[in-house]
Amino acid sequence: MATQLPTTDIRIGADLIRRRKGGTPIVCLTAYTYPIARLLDPHVDLLLVGDSVAMVLHGHETTLGASLEMMIAHGQAVMRGSARPCVVVDMPAGSYEESAMQAVASARRIVGETGCQAVKLEGGVDMARQIAAIVAADIPVMGHIGLQPQSVEKDGGYKIKGRTDETVAALIADALAVEKAGAFSVVIEGTIETVAADIARRIAIPTIGIGASGDCDGQILVIDDMVGLTVDRVPKFVKQYADLRSVITHAAERYASEVRDRVFPGPSHVFSKTNGGDDA
Ligand code: KIV
Repeated sequence: MATQLPTTDIRIGADLIRRRKGGTPIVCLTAYTYPIARLLDPHVDLLLVGDSVAMVLHGHETTLGASLEMMIAHGQAVMRGSARPCVVVDMPAGSYEESAMQAVASARRIVGETGCQAVKLEGGVDMARQIAAIVAADIPVMGHIGLQPQSVEKDGGYKIKGRTDETVAALIADALAVEKAGAFSVVIEGTIETVAADIARRIAIPTIGIGASGDCDGQILVIDDMVGLTVDRVPKFVKQYADLRSVITHAAERYASEVRDRVFPGPSHVFSKTNGGDDA
C-alpha cells in the first residue's frame, strides 16, 4: 500500500523555473515511474517524463516507439509519486508536428489526464507555430533543440550539432524561435560546448543542458543512465553516479543460489499458526 507523500502545497510551476534564469542551476532528471519519482522528489527542481521511456523501460530502439497513451500513463505515475518538482511530459513523435491544432489537442490531453505542469516538444524554427499555439492555450511549453532524438532516423544517428558555421547559425535561429514562441525554457542536447554556452547567454529563458555546457541554466540526465541501470548504449556525455546494474545482478545471483540451495525462504519468511498475525 502507498505511504503518505511529503505534504507540500508548493508544486514548482513553469513560471518559477523561468524566473530561475541565471540563478542557482536548475536540477532536472527524467522519471517514468512512481517509486523513482518518490525517491527523486526532494532532490530535483524538475522531473521530465521523457519519451526516452520508450527505449529505457519499454525496450524500443528509438524514442519513436513512444505513444501519447504511454506518455500519459507514465506522467500519471510520476505525478502520483511527486509533490514538489515541476513535472514536464514529453509530446511523442506524431502527436504535434502536423499542425498547431493537432499540437494543442495533444498537449491538452497530456495536461488534462496527468495534471502535469508543462509539456516538451522537439524542434526550433520548424515547430515555432506549434509552441506558440500551445502557449496561447495556456499550457507552458519546454523546447528541445540541438540533437533531437525523434529525428535520429532522418539524421542518420545520434549526431552532435554545431560543428559548422551553418549548423551553429541554425541552432541559434532555433533557440531564438523557441524563445519568441513563448517557451518557458529549452533543453539543449548534444551540441558543441561553446555554442550551447553562447545560446545560454543570448536568450532570456533558462537553458537546460544535456551533453551541452556547464554554462547552461540547468542540467538534465536520463535517470537510468545516471544510476547505471541502462543496459544498452550510454551516451558519452553521461556521468554515472551509481552502478545499479551490478547491485541488481549480485542480488539476483544470491537469490538464485539461495532458492536452489533451499536457504530461502528461511524461518522468518514463512508463517506458522503461532507466529505473526494475519498480515503478510
Ligand atoms: O526524452 C528524454 O529523456 C529527453 C531528455 C534526454 C532531455 O528528452
